[in-house]
Amino acid sequence: MSTFQAPKGTYDLTPPRSATFLAVREAIAAPLRDSGYGYIETPGFENVELFARGVGESTDIVTKEMYTLTTKGGDQLALRPEGTASVLRAALEANLHKAGNLPVKLWYSGSYYRYERPQAGRYRHFSQVGAEAIGTEDPVLDAELIILADQAYRSLGLRQFRILLNSLGDKECRPVYREALQTFLRDLDLDEETRRRIEINPLRVLDDKRADVQKQLTDAPKLRDYLCDACTAYHEEVRALLTAAGVAFEDDEKLVRGLDYYTRTTFEFVHDGLGSQSAVGGGGRYDGLSEMIGGPELPSVGWALGVDRTVLALEAEGIELDLPYTTSVYAVPLGEEARRVLFGVVTGLRRAGIAADFAFGGRGLKGAMKSANRSGARYTLVAGERDLAEGVVQLKDMESGEQNAVPLTEVAAELAKRLG
Ligand code: HAM
Repeated sequence: MSTFQAPKGTYDLTPPRSATFLAVREAIAAPLRDSGYGYIETPGFENVELFARGVGESTDIVTKEMYTLTTKGGDQLALRPEGTASVLRAALEANLHKAGNLPVKLWYSGSYYRYERPQAGRYRHFSQVGAEAIGTEDPVLDAELIILADQAYRSLGLRQFRILLNSLGDKECRPVYREALQTFLRDLDLDEETRRRIEINPLRVLDDKRADVQKQLTDAPKLRDYLCDACTAYHEEVRALLTAAGVAFEDDEKLVRGLDYYTRTTFEFVHDGLGSQSAVGGGGRYDGLSEMIGGPELPSVGWALGVDRTVLALEAEGIELDLPYTTSVYAVPLGEEARRVLFGVVTGLRRAGIAADFAFGGRGLKGAMKSANRSGARYTLVAGERDLAEGVVQLKDMESGEQNAVPLTEVAAELAKRLG
C-alpha cells in the first residue's frame, strides 16, 4: 500500500469488479440508444448558480452536499451533484431545441459528487447513467422512460426492484396544496429545523423518516386530492400506458424526491436487497426547469440510474453477469527469438481484430501458462527455438487441451477460422 488512500466516501473500481460496472453502464445505455437518445457529455463542474437555481436553494443537495470551489479567476464552481441541470443547460446553449423536432432525447453517463455522510451504497463520488427528453409534454414520453429503465434492469437479470410512482402536480395545483399542507404542518409538534422546512419545502416534511413525525402526518392533506383535472388526467394516462406495457408499479403519494425541479410525474426504482439506500434510480418530469435557468418553456422528463447501487443490487440478488473473456489468444514465447516472433504474431492478430495478449517479462513456461489460464483465452500459442526452426508454433485449445503445430504463416488464418 502507498501512503495515500482513496478519499473518504470514495472507492476505486478495479478489475475484475470494474468489468461489471462497465457492463451495467452498457446495459442501461443500450435501450436508450435503440430508442433515439443521443449521447451527451458535459463538464464535471458548472457554475454554482446553475445548481442553486435548478436543483433548488432549499434542497440538501445544494445547501449541504455540494463541493464548491472558487477558481483563481474568481468563478464560483461546483462539482456536479446531478446531471439534469447540466444537460438542460448544454442543450439550451447548443440550441438543440431549435435544431429539429422535439423532444430532444439525450443520454449520459458519468461521475457525480455529493458531500454526504458515507455509508453502504452512499458515496461522495458515484456514477449515474441518465436520460432526458426535453421539450415535450406527452404522457407517452414519461411512460417510455420508465419502461426503458425497467427493460434495462430486467436485461441485467434484476427482479427484486419495485417502481414507485407519484404525481407532484403542476404550477396551478401544487401551490394550493402546498399552502394547505403548510397550514396543517404548522399546528404539529415539530423541532426547529423541521419547522423551518415547513416554510421552505413543506413536501419534504412528508418524507421525514422519524416515527414520531410520521405518526403526526396520518391526517395530512393528500396531494392527490388537490391535483387539478389536467394533472389527474395526465397521471392516469401514464399509469394506463405502464399497465398496458406490463410494467408493474406502486402508487406512492409520499414520494417527493430530493430535488426541487419536479412537476407531475415522479418515480423511483427501489431495490429490496439494499437496506436504507434502496433507491437504485429515480426521475420525473421537470416542466419548469428550463425557465428557472433562463431558457424558454420546455416541458421535459428524465431519470438517472445509480450505477454503484445497481451493481450492489446485482450482488444482493446473487447475479453474476455472463461477461465474456476479453482475451481470445494468449502467446507464450520461450526464449529471446520466440519473443520477437510471437510478439509480431500477436500484433498481427490484434490488427486483424483478434483479441490477443502476451506473456511479458520472459517468465518460464509454468508461470506463463498460469497467466494464460487466468486470462480466459480460448487458445494459447507457445513457441520455442525448435518450433521456430521448423517454422511453426504450438496452438493449444485450452478447452479441449488439444495441441498441434501450425505453420507461422498460417496461424492468423487458422485462429480466425476457429474463432469464427
Ligand atoms: P437522484 O435521485 O438524486 O436523481 O439520483 C439518482 C440515483 O443516483 C439514485 O437513485 C441513486 O441510485 C444514485 N445516487 C444518488 N446519490 C448517490 C450517492 N451519494 N451514492 C451512490 N449513489 C447515489 C437525480 O440525480 C436526478 N438528476 C434524476 C433525474 C434525471 N431527474 C430527471 N432527470
